[in-house]
Amino acid sequence: MVLRRYTAAVRERLLSWFDAHARPLPWRTPGARDPYRVLVAETLLQQTQAARAGEAFPRFLARFPDPTALAAARDHEVLAQWQGLGYYQRALRLHRCAQVLVRDHGGTLPDDLAALEALPGVGRYTARAIAAQAFGQAHVAVDANVRRLGARLLGLAQPEDRVIEAGLATLLWGDASDSRHADRLPDHMTEALIELGATCCTPRRPACHACPLRRACHAAASGEPEAFPAPRRRRPPRREQLRLLVARRGAAVALARRPGHGRWAGLWGFPQANDANPVGRPLAGFEHGLSHRNLQVRPLLVRAERVPAEVVWVPLSRVAEGGGEHPVAAVDQRLARQLLAADERRAERSSALVGSA
Ligand code: ADE
Repeated sequence: MVLRRYTAAVRERLLSWFDAHARPLPWRTPGARDPYRVLVAETLLQQTQAARAGEAFPRFLARFPDPTALAAARDHEVLAQWQGLGYYQRALRLHRCAQVLVRDHGGTLPDDLAALEALPGVGRYTARAIAAQAFGQAHVAVDANVRRLGARLLGLAQPEDRVIEAGLATLLWGDASDSRHADRLPDHMTEALIELGATCCTPRRPACHACPLRRACHAAASGEPEAFPAPRRRRPPRREQLRLLVARRGAAVALARRPGHGRWAGLWGFPQANDANPVGRPLAGFEHGLSHRNLQVRPLLVRAERVPAEVVWVPLSRVAEGGGEHPVAAVDQRLARQLLAADERRAERSSALVGSA
């Protein structure tokens, strides 16, 4: 009884805070939430800041309003809508997920956790986020922000996600495994935790004074909230060479399809050099940072007839804008912009020479 009153008070505080402070993000519509919209939002949010995901969300939904529309699209159309967001594999998985929804679930999302987790691209976190936000089920979804918040609230140095799920569930509604409580659960509880972790319980200088859960929080009571969770040793990003072939034909450059797996699955890009390629003339290189890699980009200018036969020829200016029908990764877009800028400098220099002659 005491516990029940306590958890009701914690819930109240969390929800009042959410009502007052939640950012106005486009997937936060009042009333029942469409499961497909939650799926798209959570997929966008997997690796992208909420503000940028918020810009892409309406655009993506306008083009692919439901699983059936997404399932019917071609890969490159999906990738084109994902441009600039990175981590393109998740777009391709979302596409595959829509096809599975149409094939196996009548074009809608299942409300069962196990069935959700079986969908392409839907892991433990996303399945729980959908089950809670779209179907009002009693699940805590642990992403990086909730992981930090949970470790602090529960006072644990390096807890596993399952421990956080169970600990937060007990704190918020007594007993997560007891689904009889599910109907008492406000739909927004799970998202309120995510939001609190993202905006208040920040990695550095958490705003404990503004936190609705302060009185229940072990880390705040310890006076050193930043000490939770215990820092993990981060490996420095690995350096990796990327040799790209620049073949030009008039205003166009050659693009090849990147392999169907790996970090740029399904995208196009400057063909990668291998040992069988002829040596080209080195052009100015640059460093390009990915989350776990530091790419040392080494472009090589080669003759048009030396690139593989299966390339397509795309105007350099279009590649610099993202590739259009042939969407490219950010690193290729950056190289295209660099080439375009060098062309412009060369053109200016030659017109200056003509002018002075
Ligand atoms: N990160 C993951 N899910 C989110 C959500 N629903 N709102 C804000 N940030 C999030």
